[in-house]
Amino acid sequence: MASTSGGGLRRSLGLIDGAALIVGITIGSGIFASPGRVVEQVGSVGMALAVWVVGGLLSLAGALCYAELGAALPVAGGEYAYLSRTLGRPLGFLFTWTQFFVMKTGSQAIISIVFASYLGSVLFGLDPRGAGLDGDWRIKAIAVATILLLTAVNCLGVRQGAVVQVVFTALKLLALAGIIAMGLAAFFQGGSAHFADPFAGSIAAPSAFGLAMITCLWAYDGWNNLNYVSEELREPERNLPRAIVFGTLGVMVVYVLANVAYLSALTPAQMAGSRAVATHLAVQVIGPIGGVLVPIAVAISTFGSTNGSLITGARVFYAAARDGQFPRFFGYVSPQAVPAAALVAQGAWASMLVLPGDFGTLVDYFGFAAWMFYALAVVGLMILRAQAPDLPRPYKVRPYPLVPLVFLAASGFLIVNSLLTTPQSWFALGFMGLGLGVYFLFFRVPRVAVPTTSQQ
Ligand code: ARG
Repeated sequence: MASTSGGGLRRSLGLIDGAALIVGITIGSGIFASPGRVVEQVGSVGMALAVWVVGGLLSLAGALCYAELGAALPVAGGEYAYLSRTLGRPLGFLFTWTQFFVMKTGSQAIISIVFASYLGSVLFGLDPRGAGLDGDWRIKAIAVATILLLTAVNCLGVRQGAVVQVVFTALKLLALAGIIAMGLAAFFQGGSAHFADPFAGSIAAPSAFGLAMITCLWAYDGWNNLNYVSEELREPERNLPRAIVFGTLGVMVVYVLANVAYLSALTPAQMAGSRAVATHLAVQVIGPIGGVLVPIAVAISTFGSTNGSLITGARVFYAAARDGQFPRFFGYVSPQAVPAAALVAQGAWASMLVLPGDFGTLVDYFGFAAWMFYALAVVGLMILRAQAPDLPRPYKVRPYPLVPLVFLAASGFLIVNSLLTTPQSWFALGFMGLGLGVYFLFFRVPRVAVPTTSQQ
């Protein structure tokens, strides 16, 4: 039987559930759509593969750091808990605030719109990449209905949500295996020639690499999500590091193979012009039916990704509310042992974001804020090592401090690059400033007297 973890939630998720959460949230739409854009941004086959390998290694570095944090502090809430403990409550609040209004709900809005666009392309015969499609009211209606449906499923219990997650993760891996197999066939039927002079045409500017990195990192995003549900994992000290590290490694292998598959079937020029490389490849290899099968696969993939994101996101708001660091009703746990109020509020706000839903803006806004908090959490890890050297750490990131420092250097580059190139990042900063104001007005004094999970 599931044991309770003391906070009202139950430890009912095992290793497979954990891995399905990481892999299933991370593999969303990115790998089916954006590899073409990466080729366009860096100019050559070899550079494009390098971007995907470096992006994977960077995510893996983050995953290793988060594995240490999650195993040492196995409480709900992820960055909220780590930042509150190591860098102070105001930052913990700021994370929760940004996560609720922008990052988590924004990414849920994006993924559900992508899901609805692909489903709509099959149902109504629309082109999922067609201009203005995310402005079509039918697409928005499907996106909102999906968020509400999955929120309802997750209110039934964490197991129900986990079952959906495992099933859809398995299906999307199957679809990617199919795509990789088609690419392999193309490789041996002449596609290997595309790799003959891999660096011809490379655009050498670091800024080009940086831009392509941002495209690729959206596809890799999600590796931090298991930490949010640490409180519901059985034996988190073992299962959490394993699921994060092997899950992220697995995603990296799948992504690099998928790219080799695309590059085998399509010429670099075809790649660069395509915003739906997976469909392009399938039509080329198996004919028009590929144009129906791939959109269905992307719909399955993004549906699962939305589900996982709803599960993990709610635990952050719940954890903060339990500490009196977010409006109290978010801390309500239903008899099904799920943070039902946090789930419902999250679903409602994500649905609101679908309505105006400007895709590009949301992604830029998201990337900047997300990488800022990943970097802060890793700073927190280093502080914790110094301040609490004897804290039991069932998993330790190695080699230390090389891995966290490399991660910090790369995220620093991404953050500065965003500030220089996307005005959205300044809005994100302004929004955080507003959050700080709210914190000092309403949450400076914790509303509850119980000892907190985040500050001992
Ligand atoms: N990597 C996913 C994709 O390719 C997006 C993940 C969004 N992030 C999140 N934390 N839900 O579409």
